[in-house]
Amino acid sequence: MQSLVAARSSVLRKSARGFASSAARAQATPLQKPVEKKEFKIYRWNPDEPSKKPTLQTYTIDLNQCGPMVLDALIKIKNEIDPTLTFRRSCREGICGSCAMNINGQNTLACLCRIDRNTSKDTKIYPLPHMYIVKDLVPDLTQFYKQYKSIEPYLQNDNPPADREFLQSPEDRKKLDGMYECILCACCSTSCPSYWWNQDEYLGPATLMAAYRWMADSRDTYKAHRMEKMQNELSLYRCHTIFNCSRTCPKGLNPAAAIAKMKLELAAE
Ligand code: SF4
Ligand code: SF4
Ligand code: FES
Repeated sequence: MQSLVAARSSVLRKSARGFASSAARAQATPLQKPVEKKEFKIYRWNPDEPSKKPTLQTYTIDLNQCGPMVLDALIKIKNEIDPTLTFRRSCREGICGSCAMNINGQNTLACLCRIDRNTSKDTKIYPLPHMYIVKDLVPDLTQFYKQYKSIEPYLQNDNPPADREFLQSPEDRKKLDGMYECILCACCSTSCPSYWWNQDEYLGPATLMAAYRWMADSRDTYKAHRMEKMQNELSLYRCHTIFNCSRTCPKGLNPAAAIAKMKLELAAE
């Protein structure tokens, strides 16, 4: 009996020690990470002050008090330093395409772009190049969307099945892979020299890939009509296969390859 009591009190002592040490752990102050200051130089232009030239404004933030992506830095600057800084963003997941901008010379999505942790180098952020600017990092995409609309980006078939959904073989469905994933961020079109100089008539890689996506769809019966619209000097043939578009696409798509396939099919007509 005596040994049972001794064993019980030893267990109680041990669990009391356990509580004490976990309470001490809970009270311990978390280790403070060192301050890591990084400069961000950001393009600013305000339409309400049209006579003022655009400038690069410098903001400094502590990387250890910020999320890992460039969009996190922009949101921190807007929330804590300068609420006038203007940029587009929505999903923070690389899905909506709104946060496209030029970061350290590359068109990409701010929410998918990691901050370079090298604090001796600044990060330069500009809007997508060769576009009219609405304000700061917000480009005017009116012409881009107008061009997208012009290719009739929807299924067209005059004899749809009356009583069931459109069927498509796995092989035909596969032909759309690498094109249907486009989020229309415009990174590719605004990296294309041909688009820079002929934006009024040349459709640019994003819109051309969307056009080919519908030409390649086995359920769409308007292929001839779609191809007819490309038979002119400017809409398609201003592409000189420079591949800037495919190199820059933040979703890893290859609009230059889609354009090349479209040219081949048009040549075989
Ligand atoms: S192809 Fe890529 S870069 Fe071009 S609009 Fe689509 S997702 Fe953006
Ligand atoms: S491949 Fe064509 S669309 Fe792509 S960047 Fe070059 S010229 Fe532009
Ligand atoms: S916020 Fe949607 S793609 Fe970056």
